[in-house]
Amino acid sequence: MSWIENQSDEDKKMQQNVKELGKVPKHLAIIMDGNGRWAQNKSMPRVAGHKFGIESVREIVRASSNIGIQYLTLYAFSIENWNRPQIEVKGLMSLLEIYLKKEIDELNLNNVKITTIGKTSSLPHKVQTLLYKAIDKTKDNEGMNLVLALSYSGRWDIMRTVQMIALDVRRGKISPEDINEDYFTSQLQTAGMPDPDLMIRTSGENRISNFYLWELAYSEIYITEKLWPEFKKADLYEALSDFANRERRFGKTSAQLFNEEQTNEIQKTSYLQRVLDAIKK
Ligand code: FPP
Repeated sequence: MSWIENQSDEDKKMQQNVKELGKVPKHLAIIMDGNGRWAQNKSMPRVAGHKFGIESVREIVRASSNIGIQYLTLYAFSIENWNRPQIEVKGLMSLLEIYLKKEIDELNLNNVKITTIGKTSSLPHKVQTLLYKAIDKTKDNEGMNLVLALSYSGRWDIMRTVQMIALDVRRGKISPEDINEDYFTSQLQTAGMPDPDLMIRTSGENRISNFYLWELAYSEIYITEKLWPEFKKADLYEALSDFANRERRFGKTSAQLFNEEQTNEIQKTSYLQRVLDAIKK
């Protein structure tokens, strides 16, 4: 089913409202928290919360793709999550398996490119096989990049990167003076991806929980009280509208940003004038 063709008018209107604000994030990262509490509030086992969480995943993936987000990272399983009760870990792994089996064709049809970050070698074989199949099947797609963070943690990736760079130094491939931010970034699992513009965390917790540590340096953070299974497209649009109204300064002052904008406008106008003059000649 084509997501774009099957949108309701109300949906299109809500998206148009967000787009008109002029700032849709290129990269949205989400900490999907609160599945366990949602289930417990309803006297259900925690795994049921994850199951309903998948319904939110489906809705948010579609809405993000339709609105033009280029990268969507979902923090689905952290390295620390391996320490949860075995029954919950097993349940989560089966849900991942079901998701990958069930959704792959629809994701592919909608031009979504699946990638993954994390220590995926720790995942059960079945999940690894399905994951790599999904990555291979969608590798030429040019729509939204869906980045599944699986057995991922920010510190793990930073440590891994430090080790790789130390090896490069030892092999004489690079000298210590050449290690800069760009080089470091190029060795992370997120190499080639823009940093998240916006990070959403559900369930009201004010933490990063070992998610993107390097990449979130200048990201806007949006925390909602909604638990992940309750987080739906209207909540996403609300978060995106909030983001569009924020001023990102990247360490500069508001006045500097204003001046830069004015200069850009002047440059754009004079460029346009030169093009028009050249056409007239
Ligand atoms: C955090 O809630 C959520 C997780 C550890 C797992 C998230 C996984 C899914 C939504 C399903 C699988 C994902 C994909 C991409 C198919 P919690 O259990 O920590 O909630 P709590 O804080 O209320 O206990």
